[in-house]
Amino acid sequence: MKIIYADNNATTKVADEVIKQMLPYFGEYYGNPSSMHTFGGNVDKKIVQARQGVADLINADPGEIVFTSCGTESDNSAVYAALAANPEKKHIITSNVEHPAINNLCKHLVKTKGYEVTFVPVDKKGMLDMDILYNAMSDNTALITLMWANNETGVIFPIEEIGKKANEKGILFHTDAVQAAGKVPIDVKAAGVDMLSMSGHKIHAPKGIGILYIKNNLKFSPFLIGGHQEKGRRGGTENTVSIIGLGKACEMAKEHLNEMDTRVRNMRDYLENQLLEKIPACSVNGDKDLRLPNTLSIGFDAVEGESILLLLDQEGICASSGSACTSGSLDPSHVLMAMEVPLKSAHGSIRFSLSFYNTQEEMDIIIKTMVSVIQRLRDMSPFWKDGKMV
Ligand SMILES: Cc1ncc(COP(=O)(O)O)c(C=O)c1O
Repeated sequence: MKIIYADNNATTKVADEVIKQMLPYFGEYYGNPSSMHTFGGNVDKKIVQARQGVADLINADPGEIVFTSCGTESDNSAVYAALAANPEKKHIITSNVEHPAINNLCKHLVKTKGYEVTFVPVDKKGMLDMDILYNAMSDNTALITLMWANNETGVIFPIEEIGKKANEKGILFHTDAVQAAGKVPIDVKAAGVDMLSMSGHKIHAPKGIGILYIKNNLKFSPFLIGGHQEKGRRGGTENTVSIIGLGKACEMAKEHLNEMDTRVRNMRDYLENQLLEKIPACSVNGDKDLRLPNTLSIGFDAVEGESILLLLDQEGICASSGSACTSGSLDPSHVLMAMEVPLKSAHGSIRFSLSFYNTQEEMDIIIKTMVSVIQRLRDMSPFWKDGKMV
């Protein structure tokens, strides 16, 4: 069966061009980039090139890029470095819709280290309450960490505006740009961020590689203490193959940014409009304007998201649920709960996330399949009668 992959916020296909760049470094060129000999030095040259590719995507200097093992490590490293730089400050600001890599870490810091954390709430559109955010900033704040864009809804936070305020107040500012990178333009200098996290597997590089942007001259304590790699900012022999892949993926992401904003956005809008038009009692989760161009989170009354996904799966369509059964509970995700999405549609929420590999024909198949899947589930649902929820 041909797969239609519409779950690109979960992970992406590794691009053929990326694999091509990586392959020789699995086999023939296995040298250690730290070695004195030319054999290792040649690998180091490829890493230099990759670092430039990453830096170009986010308007950073190559020296500001540190390679890590994933987005989660980048997020954790940034938070711990900020706290270490400000040992006397015991307050962190974040939002209540962050990825677990930040959300659970902040909760852990409250529990184990006595930090006070302000989880800034979002409104029904998934947008930050800016008054609460600004009022929470104080002399005791060690760090503001906010995602650039949300993984479930695609809602984009006003990072540049917050960056200005954080800089004025002298508070360190980190952003988790794992979902934003490659989908919208990122300029670390204009955004005023001190640190930024990215992950390779969201932009057609392999899993298990990430980066942390660390602004020049920022006081930084490494999370992994070891050798001199990454100028002492992250110990451990480099994951050379994946770094080389990530460099190529970043070059490609830059080239595809315009297409994301046009063709991919148009496909997403077409999918969204057709679903809203053809299926009664469904609604989009999140701000429709301030949103990643590839993401659609949509809730259907009187059905379960998991059931939709299972039936889509039988047709070879990959999407994901907005109501992941976290820790055995059937609660909707913390993001939809934070947005106070009504339970009747939160439970029936799913996410489609596109990439530049998707096609218009695929959108038509998804639409046709969704119409019949929702009809089938509602026909079986005790909560659906005479064309509406009861
Ligand atoms: C917003 C966000 N942050 C962090 C991560 C974690 O990245 P990784 O899977 O590379 O650890 C993800 C992955 O889903 C994410 O969506």
